Amino acid sequence: MVYDVYGRPLLDLRMSVTDRCNFRCTYCMPDIEGKQYCFMKREQLMTFEEMERLARLFVQLGVRKIRLTGGEPLLRKNIDVLVAMLTNIEGVQDVALTTNGFFLKKYAKKLKDAGMKRVNVSLDALDDRIFMKMNGVGVCSTHILEGIDTALAEGLTVKVNMVVKKGLNDSEILPMAYFFKKKGITLRFIEFMDVGSLNGWKLDDVVTSKQIYDMISEHMPLEPVAPAHVGEVAKRYRYVGTDVEVGFISSVSAAFCSGCTRSRLSADGKLYTCLFAINGTDLLSMMRAGANDEQLLTCIEHVWRKRADRYSEERGEQTAWNGKRIEMSYIGG
Ligand code: GTP
Ligand code: 5AD
Ligand code: SF4
Ligand code: SF4
Repeated sequence: MVYDVYGRPLLDLRMSVTDRCNFRCTYCMPDIEGKQYCFMKREQLMTFEEMERLARLFVQLGVRKIRLTGGEPLLRKNIDVLVAMLTNIEGVQDVALTTNGFFLKKYAKKLKDAGMKRVNVSLDALDDRIFMKMNGVGVCSTHILEGIDTALAEGLTVKVNMVVKKGLNDSEILPMAYFFKKKGITLRFIEFMDVGSLNGWKLDDVVTSKQIYDMISEHMPLEPVAPAHVGEVAKRYRYVGTDVEVGFISSVSAAFCSGCTRSRLSADGKLYTCLFAINGTDLLSMMRAGANDEQLLTCIEHVWRKRADRYSEERGEQTAWNGKRIEMSYIGG
């Protein structure tokens, strides 16, 4: 196991497989008039073989959980082939995926057959007027719900992620809570975060987990659930009298950096030690220049050992943050 400056072990790897997305969520990749997103070229992207090789090395260093992200990971052709390669790595306990759900209907069976057990699906509203405004491309919520149902029918465990932005979808907090409680699906409320520079983040736009908790528990009492492992992103609760859970991801109001064991690889093979890191270590160039496994392992280990990131906690300690920011769709959520 490798530990960073604050004694946090390297346990998770979040791999972005593409920086492209078919959505234009207002809080992530907003559709701004005149703005053209400049995406990576095909040859800049890691191949599946390159990803598998790196994943094996991360596993040698202690990684047990791998999550595929993007952009929208299901836009990457034959992603199920990669999933099968990753689930076959000895020592990997969990290969999961975070998706906007648009292509789930088509991919759920393939993912399950490739050995995946669970997916996290983003859905910010049931009300189509609100959801369409948030996803920026006019997709309706029933389409995503059908994707979720297909995933469930295939035997995948599904969790739903809802980013809450004040004045935009806070009216959907209770309808979403009721709906997913009834369906027996874990819903996680995510505080709108200050990632990137395009989403116009303001502290005023954040609805805190405490506010959401109060809103829900007034109608449906909640009791805490113990974390399943250290460094868990969401604080978990259960609706009293049921085994249905609800989670709160409070990166703004209650940063969770002290238990952060997550490394991130962008689709072009750069290693980032924080969601808010500016500089990555270009592992893909090293690989393509002929580095052997030992050299790569030494490099990754070195990067992790000197890791001192705790961005969300530091931001909380400052009144304003003037640092540069990288887009979430680039680094992978
Ligand atoms: P599980 O293993 O199912 O608990 O997944 P997860 O919650 O780790 O992953 P997911 O991709 O569903 O992330 C949900 C939300 O948490 C997203 O908005 C992420 O950006 C946010 N998140 C995940 N990891 C971090 C992190 O290290 N730092 C911050 N600030 N946010 C994170
Ligand atoms: N704040 C909070 N969550 C965000 N996500 C994307 N951008 C933001 C943001 N600015 C979420 C997506 C998805 C996960 C990968 O990250 O909704 O659930
Ligand atoms: Fe795409 Fe996810 Fe970003 Fe929305 S949050 S634009 S679905 S990558
Ligand atoms: Fe980890 Fe950085 Fe997120 Fe803190 S802000 S939890 S260090 S990724």
